[in-house]
Amino acid sequence: MCVIKLIDIEKYYKTGNVKALRGISLTITEGEYVYIKGPSGSGKSTLLHILGLLDVPTKGRYFFDGLDTKSLSKKQKSRLMRRHIGFVFQNFYLFPYLNVFKNVELPLSLIGMHPKDRKERTEYILNKVGLYEKRYRMPNELSGGETQRIAIARAVVKSPKLILADEPTGNLDSKTGIKITELLESFNKEGKTLVIITHNPTLAQRGERIISLLDGKIVKDTKNHKDI
Ligand SMILES: Nc1ncnc2c1ncn2[C@@H]1O[C@H](COP(=O)(O)OP(=O)(O)O)[C@@H](O)[C@H]1O
Ligand SMILES: [Mg+2]
Repeated sequence: MCVIKLIDIEKYYKTGNVKALRGISLTITEGEYVYIKGPSGSGKSTLLHILGLLDVPTKGRYFFDGLDTKSLSKKQKSRLMRRHIGFVFQNFYLFPYLNVFKNVELPLSLIGMHPKDRKERTEYILNKVGLYEKRYRMPNELSGGETQRIAIARAVVKSPKLILADEPTGNLDSKTGIKITELLESFNKEGKTLVIITHNPTLAQRGERIISLLDGKIVKDTKNHKDI
């Protein structure tokens, strides 16, 4: 089953007159572990934002889980995002005035989960990312690695089909970066589709598939045969 199917996607930004994506066709099947790499400005974030329904293509079609995203109403689209897509950004973006627990719980409130189930699920995921003890801390009382763990917890708490991460380890030291990557991988092992943008070629080697972008086009798409 294809989670993602892109047909000839183009993205044009009027501001700056930039063609960020120039004909991207791509399918990603359920449970895949994919890296997207390429130089700065090659269109990686634009592509990920489109995959995450945070932005729309100028041309082309995007099917998410078999649904043509163009045919969805605004409401259907935001429901889809809230339930099935978890997004992790490079700069973490936690809500500064909410404590750790509330930051992680928020997506569950948005999908209308019952408070008791919400609490249970939030506690489960905080345990999983190893930060249950710090659940009443405020975001500014956490280290970079801890903050990113919380951002990941928040992205995965609703158990989304698709996890998208835009350079999630870009602002972390390499040891913490590997820990964060292992955490993301643990959700892939549970069957979630995982797509990560990285600048780091060593990190990309951990994936099952590496897609290289250059000037808004896919220039390479290889299966990565690991010996482990
Ligand atoms: N919101 C935007 N408005 C105008 N131009 C943009 C916007 N976002 C990205 N771009 C441009 O689109 C191109 C691709 O950017 P981006 O997708 O961020 O690349 P990458 O993530 O690979 O560095 C760049 O030339 C960038 O300047
Ligand atoms: Mg980027």
